Formats: sequence, structure tokens, C-alpha cells
Amino acid sequence: MTRYLRKIAVSDVGMGCMGFSHGYGTVPDHDEAVDSIRAAYQAGCTFFDTAEGYGKERFFPGHNEQLVGEAVHPFRDQVVLATKVRIEPEEVAEYGVEGALRHHLALSMENLQTDYVDLYYLHRVNEDVALSDVSLAMGKLIDQGLIRGWGLSQVSLDLLKEADQVTPVSAVQNLYNMLERDCEQTIQPYCLENGIGLVPFSPIASGFLSGQLHSTSQFEKVDDVRNWVPQLSQENMDKNQPVIHLLNQFAEAKGVTTAQLSLAWMLAKYPNVVPIPGSKNRARTLENLAAAQVDLAPVEMQRLDTALNELTIHGHRGTVEVENRQVGYNRATHTKWTN
Ligand SMILES: NC(=O)c1ccc[n+]([C@@H]2O[C@H](COP(=O)([O-])OP(=O)(O)OC[C@H]3O[C@@H](n4cnc5c(N)ncnc54)[C@H](OP(=O)(O)O)[C@@H]3O)[C@@H](O)[C@H]2O)c1
Repeated sequence: MTRYLRKIAVSDVGMGCMGFSHGYGTVPDHDEAVDSIRAAYQAGCTFFDTAEGYGKERFFPGHNEQLVGEAVHPFRDQVVLATKVRIEPEEVAEYGVEGALRHHLALSMENLQTDYVDLYYLHRVNEDVALSDVSLAMGKLIDQGLIRGWGLSQVSLDLLKEADQVTPVSAVQNLYNMLERDCEQTIQPYCLENGIGLVPFSPIASGFLSGQLHSTSQFEKVDDVRNWVPQLSQENMDKNQPVIHLLNQFAEAKGVTTAQLSLAWMLAKYPNVVPIPGSKNRARTLENLAAAQVDLAPVEMQRLDTALNELTIHGHRGTVEVENRQVGYNRATHTKWTN
């Protein structure tokens, strides 16, 4: 099946490739990572997500892009490659917004072994760099065929509208999963109305919604986001167990896994949602892609949503993302995210 991020056609479920270089502790070896990405393609996945920065903590910037570029090289024209850029005020002062973007894009294209990027996201809005200038420059890159579309990540409605008015945005990559549903009230109505895709990152809540993490789970000390994701603190994992109980009930009845159910839920809810779960484990990658085949009837969705709405969720990652400048640059939108 095909979904659309404005005009860009992608498979219902994409593949988040970050974990092969960053964010979830020790990474698999190079060949296993490449084979996993190719196995996902063989299973029907046509949408691969990376970023220029993935790998900088353990290896070097561009590490993940290089892996993805190598993996998809044999079938590059059959897939949609999404990568992300951050630009700093210092670069902008020297080269201008457009010059800085072109420099980053050239490096990403080299890493990805391609002469165009399908979807180029601004990884975080930096309040010291005018968003309208970024949007204008992205429009020029589109006109020149260097990118097919552009997007924003972890962005508020006001900033999305501001950017979209200058150059139409193809997709927003925000945090969205059963534990954190702010998007439904904030950006999603605008996205639906304007044909903008919503690409949820951490759609399985960094593994929690698989039901396989517990308050006794140990995470690695180096480069593992699970050490700070608030819903994964020992206390909150215990408190959020009712969500897992709920998912278990539905998953057992449907004969699927809880991870699949959590993805099928967002797919059934909105036609413009394309989750990009990430896994270092090939079997789980295929399990996640198969969520696209899980049908949830309107009556099941209603029961699930009603039950979910009755639960109190403990921990809010969006708040931490904006407070931690190591992670994001959304100071200007802080009040929106903590509402
Ligand atoms: N725009 C942004 O700021 C931003 C931020 C974060 C991520 N991202 C993108 O979004 C992608 C997805 O994010 P994420 O990796 O945090 O998402 P996620 O899929 O919610 O979480 C990944 C974690 O869940 C586990 N997992 C995945 N599928 C599973 C399954 N079926 N059963 C059991 N455990 C499972 C993985 O463990 P195993 O590896 O052991 O299977 C891994 O520890 C990333 O790869 C990256 O491309 C973007």
C-alpha cells in the first residue's frame, strides 16, 4: 500500500535507521545493518529515515547516512530517502542560510551516494536562524531538483504554518505514539487539511509499547536515549503498565504483537501517518513492517481510543526535548510544548 507525504509516495510503514549508528547503545556490525535495511526493502519498505548527525557520538557525522546510502544503492531509485540537517547561526553568518544548507546537503548526498534527496528535514528549528529564510532556501533546492520535498521535525503549529506559507512542507516528523498524543491536537489537523504527512518518530515509545521493557531493564551508559526518555524511568515504566495491559488484550485478540498493534493503531487513525519504527534486530524490523497488514475496524479503534483516553500517562518526552538544548533547539516553542 502507498501513503503520501504531500506528493511523495511511500510505504505505509518506513524504517528508522538511526539505531544502526546512534541512540540505542551498541550497534550491530556493518554488514548486519546493511542486510537489515535490504531485508526491509525486500519486505516492501520504500521509506528510509536517517540524519546527518546520526553516528557523531560513537563514530562520525554521516555514519548512518553512509550505511543507508550503501544499503539502498542497488535500488536507490525505488526508495524515498529522508535525511535531516541542522544549521547553526555561525554558519549562517558566514555563508547565508542557503549557502549553509547547500553545503550540508552536498555532504549528505555524498554520504547517501545520490544526487538528490527525496525528503530533507530541518532537524530542529533554531530560533536564531529565520525559519522563513530556511523555507525559502528549501524552495530553491526543490526547484533545482536537489530535493523533492522538505520537512520539519519536532515543530509547533505556529512554526509549521509560518514555514508552509513560504514553501509547502511535505512532512512533519514529530514524536507521536500511544503514550504521547499531543500531535493529534496541535499539528495534525493542519497537516490533514493541507496534505502534509505526519511521520512519527519513536512510534513504539522507544520500545516500551512492545511490552518487552520493564522497570528492571538495564540500558547502556553510552549513547542510549532510553536513559533520559521520561516514560522509561523505572518509576514511570511501572506506572504506565496499564497501557501494556490494554495493548496485550487487543493484541491477543487480533493475534498480533503489541508493537504491531501500536503501529496499526496510528495507521488506522490517520491516512497521512507513516511511522518509522527503528530496530537493530532484523526479525523485529519485519514484524514492524507487517503492522501495515493489521486491520483495525472502526469499532475496535473506538474501544481502543476510549480505553486509552481513560488512562493517565506518566512522563512527557516532548517537554524534555525542548528543555535540553543538547537534544533540540525549540526554545521559542517551549510554552507550546509544555501546554
Ligand atoms: N526527528 C527526531 O528528532 C528523531 C528522534 C528520534 C528518532 N528519530 C527517527 O525515528 C526513528 C524511530 O525512532 P526510535 O528508534 O526511537 O523508535 P522506536 O521504534 O519507538 O524505538 C526503538 C526501540 O524499540 C525497540 N523495538 C522496535 N521494534 C520493536 C519490536 N517489534 N519489539 C520489541 N522492541 C522493539 C528497539 O529495540 P531493538 O533494536 O532491540 O529491536 C529500540 O530499542 C529513528 O530510527 C530515527 O530515524 C527521529
